[in-house]
Amino acid sequence: MTQDDRTRLVAAAREAMTRSHSPYSRFRVGAALLGADGRVHTGTNVENASYGLSICAERTAVFKAVSEGCRDFVAAAVVTDTDTPTPPCGACRQVLQEFAPGLVIHLAGRGDDIETFRLAELLPRPFDSFTPGEAP
Ligand code: THU
Repeated sequence: MTQDDRTRLVAAAREAMTRSHSPYSRFRVGAALLGADGRVHTGTNVENASYGLSICAERTAVFKAVSEGCRDFVAAAVVTDTDTPTPPCGACRQVLQEFAPGLVIHLAGRGDDIETFRLAELLPRPFDSFTPGEAP
């Protein structure tokens, strides 16, 4: 993960944020995931009049990437239209954990400040003891 990768990833998340569909919360979020193959997958939050059907930017990016055959992620960026960076919600942390337990996550708001965390710091003691295919 170079400085260039970080800049590129935050810029991609910032651009994705401009496509947010958030007329209900007016809270715009953009996410970008850097795959081990160098591809970048972006996502934004997409809300619905039936509020519970809304989806976060991070999960949009993960589901898009997995659908495109990428499930090995090196880093992520999450950008919010706020003064200070905003960390991902618990549900998105758990979904990221499924594919990228070692993920590095860069957070940015409107300004230039970038805060960087490991997913393990944001989601200590994750639910990861179930292996697909195991009998319940
Ligand atoms: N949101 C995200 O996109 N990511 C998060 O991690 C937290 C919240 C979205 C969902 C909703 O559209 C809006 O932000 C307000 O909760």
